[in-house]
Amino acid sequence: MTRRQRTVFGEVAETYDEVRASYPDSVIDNVAVLTALESGSSVLDVGCGTGILAEPFISRGHKVLGIDPSSGMARIARRKFAGNPNFRLHLVDFQTWSPGSDRFDLVVAGQSWHWMDPDTRFHSAASALRDNGHLVLFWNTANQMETPIRAALDTAYAEHTTDMPAGPPGSKTGLNGREPHEEIAEADRFELLDVVEEAWSATYATDAYLRLLGTQSDHRLLDDSRRSALFDAIADAIDDIGGGHINVQYICRAFVAKLT
Ligand SMILES: C[S@@+](CC[C@H](N)C(=O)[O-])C[C@H]1O[C@@H](n2cnc3c(N)ncnc32)[C@H](O)[C@@H]1O
Repeated sequence: MTRRQRTVFGEVAETYDEVRASYPDSVIDNVAVLTALESGSSVLDVGCGTGILAEPFISRGHKVLGIDPSSGMARIARRKFAGNPNFRLHLVDFQTWSPGSDRFDLVVAGQSWHWMDPDTRFHSAASALRDNGHLVLFWNTANQMETPIRAALDTAYAEHTTDMPAGPPGSKTGLNGREPHEEIAEADRFELLDVVEEAWSATYATDAYLRLLGTQSDHRLLDDSRRSALFDAIADAIDDIGGGHINVQYICRAFVAKLT
């Protein structure tokens, strides 16, 4: 069976849930204000994975339906919210899912919109929304700072990979080279209201950084020997230059769009 890049996350679902970042509270709170969410509002979480984005909406009293085709990721989300009536999950591709008679106040996607079918995703989101509903697309993106470790990592990637960005998850927001706000502008059912942003950072020990990279789809698709050589070179760079730690600067962006 061919491994498809968008579905490899389930191979490392437990690690994914442990090491992947959530989204800053201030971003979620600003999104809730911009989209006029009230307690009990209904949220469709597209590509919900292990429920990292669903969690802050559930903890604020909203009802979340997650959509994800990965049984590995879904198992963890279901375990996380076991017994919570505000979480449901449909194990299905977004492109084959239908809302039936359900309509949602908000459709969200965290690190996942770029995996949805570009020909149908905005139409599917629009069909799932109530009048005056919103679509919000979240990404945590690593800022590639010019540092001595970064230069050594660039060398490691150049030596062991072809054409792969030298960084942690979040280097991808579109698969066709366009920015989310451009794609929203071209989607005839949505109008961009705002982009909510928050900078944050994390420092990882060498092993933790390698575990994080191991959840990234392009790193998963490397064959084992190549990934292992790359990871050895990355570990050497962090140990030798950073004394066993690497700091990563992130920016969380939420693209808030209104159904027109
Ligand atoms: C990078 S993970 C993001 C998970 C979660 N939203 C988060 O914020 O951590 C991308 C998720 O999208 C899911 N996915 C990929 N293609 C999909 C599709 N066509 N329909 C629904 N989910 C999909 C994957 O299985 C994976 O769980």
